[in-house]
Amino acid sequence: MIVERAYAHAAEDEVQGSEWPWTVPCVRRLLDDGLRFTAPVTFLVGENGSGKSTLVEALAEAFGLDPWGGSAGYRYAGPRAPSVLGGRMRFEATVAGRRMLRAPHTRRRGFFLRAETALDALGREQRTGRVSGSPEEMSHGEGFLMAFRERFAGPGLYVLDEPESALSFASCLELVGVLDDLSRTGAQIICATHSPLLTALPGAEIIEVGEHGMRSAEWHELELVEHWRRYLNDPRAYLRHIVG
Ligand SMILES: Nc1ncnc2c1ncn2[C@@H]1O[C@H](COP(=O)(O)OP(=O)(O)O)[C@@H](O)[C@H]1O
Ligand SMILES: [Mg+2]
Repeated sequence: MIVERAYAHAAEDEVQGSEWPWTVPCVRRLLDDGLRFTAPVTFLVGENGSGKSTLVEALAEAFGLDPWGGSAGYRYAGPRAPSVLGGRMRFEATVAGRRMLRAPHTRRRGFFLRAETALDALGREQRTGRVSGSPEEMSHGEGFLMAFRERFAGPGLYVLDEPESALSFASCLELVGVLDDLSRTGAQIICATHSPLLTALPGAEIIEVGEHGMRSAEWHELELVEHWRRYLNDPRAYLRHIVG
């Protein structure tokens, strides 16, 4: 593992205002209690707008990953002003993590895969010789698989934001295998997701993000798992409320 706890501080008057990101409940929770990581793989789940991307972007940025995505140790667009939360985020790190955080940025290892900007990020990876294929010439999902196969290796911090958005069932299973292998090499993975498949990775920690802030959850108790289970069992139970 790399990071054992993330936390942030902000001035009281700033937090009391109505400005994003301080209005997001999970960010307030981060300010009050921090966020503890107890396993090499952590999944963040929660409704759209609950704050998952706000959190993972700030975590990635604070580790020195480019907030637009791509490999650690490389800044694509020159120095950018840190985001409000990313600039405040601090880590309590493991020995390996402290070593990485003390070293220059070029010595950090990891990857930030964001669904929204993946094509741009993978294009830059290709132009700098970090991946072999051109993402322009492959499907969204194939581009993701190329990143997993070629860039997800070795100790480092791997941050993913809804990787399942581009992936088939089989590709999601492949990603579970990649995350499991990575987690055994001293790497740490933090992944925002809506996927019942990914979150089932044995040994992974699941944190539910929502109005309540953040809380740890078991896979079989997750709302997303229960909804999928019921939907697949009988789609009409849902669809009769939705379609004519
Ligand atoms: N750059 C931004 N400026 C202002 N508000 C934002 C910004 N990014 C996200 N938000 C707001 O913060 C909340 C959490 O968003 P986000 O972290 O993207 O949620 P999630 O990833 O869980 O769907 C939402 O209400 C969203 O509208
Ligand atoms: Mg999001």
